[in-house]
Amino acid sequence: MSNAKVPGADKWAAFYGSGQGNQLPDENLVRLVRGRYGEIPRSGRVLDVGFGRGANLIMFAHSGFECHGLEVSEESIEAAKELACRAGVNLSLGLLSGTGIPFPDNHFDIILSWGAVYYHGNRTLVAEAIKEFHRAIRVGGVLLMSVIHPNSFMVRRLSDDLGDSAHLIDREDPHDNRYGLKIFYEATSSGWRLLLSVFDEVEEGYAEIDLFAPKRRDAWRFLLARKTR
Ligand SMILES: C[S@@+](CC[C@H](N)C(=O)[O-])C[C@H]1O[C@@H](n2cnc3c(N)ncnc32)[C@H](O)[C@@H]1O
Repeated sequence: MSNAKVPGADKWAAFYGSGQGNQLPDENLVRLVRGRYGEIPRSGRVLDVGFGRGANLIMFAHSGFECHGLEVSEESIEAAKELACRAGVNLSLGLLSGTGIPFPDNHFDIILSWGAVYYHGNRTLVAEAIKEFHRAIRVGGVLLMSVIHPNSFMVRRLSDDLGDSAHLIDREDPHDNRYGLKIFYEATSSGWRLLLSVFDEVEEGYAEIDLFAPKRRDAWRFLLARKTR
């Protein structure tokens, strides 16, 4: 397990320190948690790894969950605390320093990794992180992940494969905080299923959005991985 500081943490610190980041929960996640789509626990303990400004966690808190989060910078934690305070909910937040999850085995009903795990930058670390998620999820619990789909504008921003699906974000918009970051981009469903094979069942979803800005057309692969034993 790696305990080094997460690569790119300084860029994310500058991003959240300057007041950026989602202040509203992701609409796909709202549907999943509040609607009747995938079969997921409807109460209990949730851990969001890479929670950003905490908007998704706040939605979970409003839905009755006990909410925990890990992020790579103190700036992000401060921004989320402020948002949670305004929303009148309590979040328990800490620093992520590698792929380790500082919680006991079988602890969480849900672990959320929403547009986040691939910032570990390579397959080895992502596989390590997923094994840790599995360890910390209770039997009957689930991992909810969203990852970059090949139809996403993000793919155009990636360098060639540097080896085993590691890419540099080095195209377009050099002012974006992600410019220069290393990212793990796995394009295929089978590739993700292999990484998730430590889980007992895996389901997939998909969403795409094009709000009059084709250059920003976004697309996500959703993965719902279940631990049944
Ligand atoms: C695109 S943002 C998504 C934030 C949030 N999950 C959301 O849906 O709004 C990616 C987040 O991943 C965090 N991050 C960076 N490196 C990470 C890593 N190695 N593991 C987990 N999260 C990481 C960043 O700090 C950032 O907040």
